[in-house]
Amino acid sequence: MTNQQIVLKSRPVTHASEDNFALRTVPVPPLGDGEVLRRTLYLSLDPYMRGRMGSAASYAAGVPLDHVMIGGTVSQVIESTNPAFAPGDFVTGYDGWQEYHVSKGHDLRRLDPAVAPISTAIGVLGMPGMTAYVGLFDLGQPKAGETVVVSAASGAVGAIVGQLAKLTGCRVVGIAGAQEKCDYVVQELGFDACVSHYSDTLRDDLAAACPKGVDVYFENVGGKVFEAVFGLMNVHGRIPVCGTISEYNAPTPTSGPTLRALLTNRIMIRGFIVGEHAARQADFLRDCAQWIREGTLKYREDVVDGLAQAPSALLRLFDGRNFGKLLVRVSPDPSQATRG
Ligand SMILES: NC(=O)c1ccc[n+]([C@@H]2O[C@H](COP(=O)([O-])OP(=O)(O)OC[C@H]3O[C@@H](n4cnc5c(N)ncnc54)[C@H](OP(=O)(O)O)[C@@H]3O)[C@@H](O)[C@H]2O)c1
Repeated sequence: MTNQQIVLKSRPVTHASEDNFALRTVPVPPLGDGEVLRRTLYLSLDPYMRGRMGSAASYAAGVPLDHVMIGGTVSQVIESTNPAFAPGDFVTGYDGWQEYHVSKGHDLRRLDPAVAPISTAIGVLGMPGMTAYVGLFDLGQPKAGETVVVSAASGAVGAIVGQLAKLTGCRVVGIAGAQEKCDYVVQELGFDACVSHYSDTLRDDLAAACPKGVDVYFENVGGKVFEAVFGLMNVHGRIPVCGTISEYNAPTPTSGPTLRALLTNRIMIRGFIVGEHAARQADFLRDCAQWIREGTLKYREDVVDGLAQAPSALLRLFDGRNFGKLLVRVSPDPSQATRG
């Protein structure tokens, strides 16, 4: 049996391109003792992958050249000599950009398709959802009546942040690119307002949408969007810094607001990495699975078919051509037939 893989061929200097990747076909290794062979059904594409394509020092090392690209996955077990997993089981893990993977399965978590569609394990009920949950609740600490602003508002993380803030009783203002995305977060997700970062009057648009200023800014974008929101922060405001996607393709950091304003307004600004908040996973899964069942938490997936499409699809994240959680359907999902 053969395994298609996508490996990192070269490192981008500025913008990532499809040429940084190569498709290769290798044999699937034989199954050893205590191992699990699984077929990838869904591959998650996420902005952090741009960082892993580089070699700059960060919280995680870059992917070595000629190695399979890292990525969260939902898979089905095909064969197993590990008593913890049986053929047919659905699991989530980090199997990367490939059709098959064999390992001891230490990092696998079994999924129950009756709880939610299994693709959600890499979306609203996976890393992006967990990021929204801990970033908003634990770092942002929103209170009813406060104003919460979130950028990349229609995306995998931002859409959940805004809905969780609404559940808390906050005024919620999104920032997104296209008008279609702004309409979606207001009309479908219940945000109070959304402004476009393409507007020449972004700062004024935001000020009008946030008449009482901003108490929590959930930062996903950085750059000029950050500067526009920063000037509206209230005393004792909080800024969980989740991501700065506008800077991921830049060779050097872009400028930002002055630290003096942080001091005078006693603003708490704190970066975080979701992987360091694993202790909250049980709370996150309990709460968000229930809100999805009740219909209070909505999510949108942007599904691309075929592993070979992963490189071009990844690039969509950096100019807003994804709309919702971006994932690749690597193989047909057998659980969909049983869900009806
Ligand atoms: N700290 C952590 O542990 C952690 C975990 C997960 C994600 N993150 C971060 O969270 C952020 C959102 O991730 P996601 O998975 O939810 O992605 P996403 O929002 O589903 O997709 C990325 C979106 O970012 C916006 N964007 C891209 N380039 C931009 C630019 N130059 N200026 C303004 N907006 C731009 C686009 O939306 P528009 O079309 O609306 O512009 C694009 O659709 C990223 O910064 C990511 O790195 C951090």
